[in-house]
Amino acid sequence: MPKRFYVSTPIYYVNDVPHIGHAYTTLACDVLARYKRACGLEVFFLTGTDEHGQKVEKAAQAGGETPLELADRVVKRFQALWDKLDISNTDFIRTTQERHKKGVSELFKIIEAKGDIYLGEYEDWYCTPCETFWTETQLLDGCCPDCGRPTDRLKEESFFFRMSKYQDALVKHIEEHPDFIQPKSRRNEILNFIKEGLRDLSISRTTFSWGIPVPSKEGHVLYVWFDALTNYITALGYPEDQEGHFADFWPGDVHVIGKDILRFHTVYWPTFLMAAGLPLPKRVFAHGWWTVEGQKMSKSLRNVVEPNMLIDKYGVDPIRYFLLREVPFGLDGDFSHSALVHRINSDLANDLGNLVSRSTAMIGKYFKGVLPSPVENADTDEAFIGRFPKALKSVDTQMNDLSFHKALQSIWELIRAANKYIDDTAPWTLAKDPEQAERLGTVMYNLLEAQRLIALLISPFLPGTAQSILSILGAQTGEAPLVSDTAWGGLKPGTVIEKAPPLFPRIETD
Ligand code: MSP
Repeated sequence: MPKRFYVSTPIYYVNDVPHIGHAYTTLACDVLARYKRACGLEVFFLTGTDEHGQKVEKAAQAGGETPLELADRVVKRFQALWDKLDISNTDFIRTTQERHKKGVSELFKIIEAKGDIYLGEYEDWYCTPCETFWTETQLLDGCCPDCGRPTDRLKEESFFFRMSKYQDALVKHIEEHPDFIQPKSRRNEILNFIKEGLRDLSISRTTFSWGIPVPSKEGHVLYVWFDALTNYITALGYPEDQEGHFADFWPGDVHVIGKDILRFHTVYWPTFLMAAGLPLPKRVFAHGWWTVEGQKMSKSLRNVVEPNMLIDKYGVDPIRYFLLREVPFGLDGDFSHSALVHRINSDLANDLGNLVSRSTAMIGKYFKGVLPSPVENADTDEAFIGRFPKALKSVDTQMNDLSFHKALQSIWELIRAANKYIDDTAPWTLAKDPEQAERLGTVMYNLLEAQRLIALLISPFLPGTAQSILSILGAQTGEAPLVSDTAWGGLKPGTVIEKAPPLFPRIETD
């Protein structure tokens, strides 16, 4: 039976249209999912939309729509963007779907039957944009400590979840599972928060109606985070299909999220699961935030980076490359057009694009486009070939650490080594001497074979480019190429090699 891997994105609010921040989380998950599939794992890759809550209700009212009309409209934009960004998700969950609503009510009933949910009264400060209650002391100058916007005083009858009961168990879990919260720097932040004392959590609202009804009492809808977090298991068929999909994929391998929603995923979600007697996800990884040309991205600054426009202008693979190469995953980063253009011109057009076009042009010129047989490797060749198994190993470790920028660095070291191999072996000089014909054949074979392996390694990041390179090389690959096709020598001598069109046109700058 193949090993399995479950990776999820957060589900996106539908009161906003997709921007570069959303694209970033989804892209990181896609690259991981593609990598694991290429390694032969059976992957469940989930994304979706978070459609309930006061924020969505208010946005719909403002636009003269019903919340569901708003959601239907915005969901299409997310799905279209994921198609355009080459996202390979297995499923797309919407919290307004029946399968989800049923699962959430069941989870509530299970926790309630256990005695961990009770009816009480809630009074505190509420930040509607963040859908979060804050205590007096948490407010900053009366405003939300997360987003800085004004909060409202709310008092209402509410169901409470006995989160406090799970404080010690949660601390123990985090301490015993050093990989549960990543990057490491985030772990202490959460541990300190928990150790300050967990309060019981209000998990129902009576002041609006756009949500999943509380099963045991009319007039209450479930708190949007109780509803939303449960998507990670309702998408697997919980609670009905506990023998099937759910048993196969839960506990999930990694929830990839932004740093702003870490507390929900590492405090609320695990305690809900503990109360329901379910295992906790293996890992929660929080990435950083993008600013734009040095400024916070916001509608009011009119600097929201729209991924569709970027893809139309630069192409999908360059955008995928830039987002994961530019900033170490886990840290904040800045999006700037000059950095993007620089990466495209230097890493993609110069390093990778030139490598492929130079080599295929030489095969055309010296061997009429037919791949020669290698004869005898010299020391330079062996040293060059020896880099590949090492790089495959490093990339594997780096991918498992979600260290995408390092994995790309490792791959680019190979690309640069291949360019240097051309300069060192100087095929144009060998071509002038008929006695060096075998040597020239060996060099050219190694060069093209190296590009086959490079294409396999870049394929999770740049799927379209990898396909183009493999087809130029006439290379065949199996379902799990990083397992079956990484031994040196996969290209068959005699294969016809196409002359490569420019893979990445250089972008002219002023
Ligand atoms: N609906 C909740 C998640 C529920 S998951 C059970 C939510 N949605 S969101 O649409 O507001 O945000 C989704 C993700 O986008 C978050 O992980 C957030 O960190 C990410 N980003 C939003 N703006 C961002 C940047 N400027 N930069 C990077 N990521 C950002 O929260």
